[in-house]
Amino acid sequence: MKNQVNKFYVTTPIYYVNAAPHIGHSYTSIAADTLARYYRGVLGEKSVYFLTGTDEHGQKVQKAAEKKGLSPQEFVDEAASDFVALSKTLNLSNNDFIRTTEARHIKVVGEILEILYESGDIYEGKYQGWYCIPCEAFWPESQLEDQKVCPDCKRPIVKISEKNYFFKLSKYQDQLISYIEKHPEFILPDFRRNEIVSFLTLNKLEDLCISRPKERMSWGIPIPFSGEHVVYVWFDALVNYLSAVGTFSKDKQYKSPWWQPQTQVVHLIGKDILRQHAVYWPIMLMALETAGVKGIKIPDVVFAHGWWMTNKAKMSKSRGNVVDPQDVTERFGVDTYRYFLLRDMPFGQDGNFSEESLIKRFNSDLANDLGNLVYRTLTMVEKYYQGDVPQLDINKTKFDQSGEEIKSKLGPRRKALGGPDPAASYSFNFSAALEDIWKLINLANRYVEETKPWNLAKEKKDKELAGFIRLLVEVLKAVAGEISPFMPQTAELIKQQLGKEKIKKTKPLFPRIEKAQKP
Ligand code: ME8
Ligand code: MG
Repeated sequence: MKNQVNKFYVTTPIYYVNAAPHIGHSYTSIAADTLARYYRGVLGEKSVYFLTGTDEHGQKVQKAAEKKGLSPQEFVDEAASDFVALSKTLNLSNNDFIRTTEARHIKVVGEILEILYESGDIYEGKYQGWYCIPCEAFWPESQLEDQKVCPDCKRPIVKISEKNYFFKLSKYQDQLISYIEKHPEFILPDFRRNEIVSFLTLNKLEDLCISRPKERMSWGIPIPFSGEHVVYVWFDALVNYLSAVGTFSKDKQYKSPWWQPQTQVVHLIGKDILRQHAVYWPIMLMALETAGVKGIKIPDVVFAHGWWMTNKAKMSKSRGNVVDPQDVTERFGVDTYRYFLLRDMPFGQDGNFSEESLIKRFNSDLANDLGNLVYRTLTMVEKYYQGDVPQLDINKTKFDQSGEEIKSKLGPRRKALGGPDPAASYSFNFSAALEDIWKLINLANRYVEETKPWNLAKEKKDKELAGFIRLLVEVLKAVAGEISPFMPQTAELIKQQLGKEKIKKTKPLFPRIEKAQKP
């Protein structure tokens, strides 16, 4: 199927607006942005769609608004603008920003509810159970201990019984298992797929309660066929991936340029929300297909990455141990931040965030390696060639062994991210991709030290010197191209400096940081 891939649709989770954005949110967004920029380079500018946004309904938001003395709508408008501002700060190239309080979204959620109610996959029933108010989650007796507290947040839970609407998850359990077996790329990394498969084979899925009585929680999308309920926040939120890029027509056709067989639909998420994306979401889509909706498919990839931690605890709003991305980017620069997040922690695993490790990487990888290569190359073009890059074709020039090795490494390096080309499976290995680019940078720096161009100049070995400098300029061009999805501003700066009529040395791109600086 991948043979016909011609478009790429990548999403981040839509973030809850009940608290300010933190590093964790920016991580998924930066990864998605890097993929979007990278695939635009492969498939063309107009062939990629990158969506992010905010999840604005639910009890937590209602509570947060009350606490601030605002109406829910006032509260979400303010909070969403922080997330929009962050996407600017991070230099995200998102094509759209969806908010679940927008009419276009509310409309689609309502339509889906009606279609599934009519087909019988949503039905009315009675719910009895233990409920955690802050988490908005019901807990089965089997997962509770003697003292009735939420297994997740450890706060007290309450028993409730009420009329509700249910979604037939259980009906699609076998269909989902066989779908996952046939589509190994649907859940990545592999070990996450194994988790979901064993969850699905060991447990019987229970139908999902998808309504909330308005008297308990009113800040949600009304269920069209009930005057008394709003929809459960997850059933609302997941639909954003459809509502942002398409519409339902009266004859049950979902129409979207980005939800098609030839489009790779890729959801990047954190491991905290894998079950919703790998179980609820595909089943919602299967139920729509079963109801006769045309134009629906299951996403191609759900990739669940790991968590940024601080001192072994997940960084999270509820734990209050978050690092503010606005602050870090202001002090260290947005590209430094993007580089650090994607380089330091392999995508899929957990990692520890600390300012010391960020400064360490800054000084070694950015100041010493990349910054130095740019600086010394520009300096030599100015010093030995008065700013004119020597005109010669490096492919027709014979270099020594190190030079030939560098030359052989100038081609594009795509393997580490993988896809969407037919033969390449997805790996989304950002850190390996960067490591690989840095191998070239380091080879080039070593080449300068080994060649000692100042001696070539003294000995008037002009041909060697010209070839050597031209080769370094080609390395910089290649590096600028390769890093541009990861560090767009830096790539642009390097390209600009190389594009000048008279090349001159400039201030170092990444001046060393001597010690941790506090604002
Ligand atoms: O779950 N490390 O929103 P949310 C890495 N609204 N990534 C992290 C992280 C951390 N410490 N903390 C958060 C929701 N994230 C729902 C999503 S989607 C239809 C609805 C990132 O604000 C990661 O992507 O809690 C995680 O999955 C997401 O933020 C959760 O954001
Ligand atoms: Mg969360």
